[in-house]
Amino acid sequence: MKIEEQIKIIEFADFGDERGNLVVIEGDGMDIPFDIKRVFYIYGSDSEVVRGSHANRESEFLLVNVSGTSKVRVDNGSEEMIVELNRPRMGLYIPSMLWKDMYDFSADSVLLVLSSRHYDGNEYIRDYEEYLKEIGKQD
Ligand code: TYD
Repeated sequence: MKIEEQIKIIEFADFGDERGNLVVIEGDGMDIPFDIKRVFYIYGSDSEVVRGSHANRESEFLLVNVSGTSKVRVDNGSEEMIVELNRPRMGLYIPSMLWKDMYDFSADSVLLVLSSRHYDGNEYIRDYEEYLKEIGKQD
């Protein structure tokens, strides 16, 4: 499958009014395709830092830069795509078994991550050769 069909860029509704903005992300197929089991956020990462550099055997993710900007490079072993997260209403859905890097964090970047799974270090693939092997791209 083409990488742009594997990921999804989702624009969330804004329930804001004269008091300010309000964005809601509901799981279970309402706004994103999975039930939300875990939430974490990354901030204070330097612009030269590269985070991620792994694939997940099980977890699906939804990334939102609720403040600032960052870039995400996704790679399916055949092709890659770079997505800039640059507004609080924009979400990037990443299914399991895609390699991903997050980088180019702005000083005010707060990258919110929603996940379909609780944390389990064993479902992380942190070696790219191993990733290619598991998706059948290399023996
Ligand atoms: P890491 O996977 O390196 O973060 P990222 O890929 O976003 O750069 O995680 C850093 C540390 O935090 C590592 O020791 C594992 C731990 N961690 C948890 O305990 N639970 C979690 O949900 C996450 C994402 C990380």
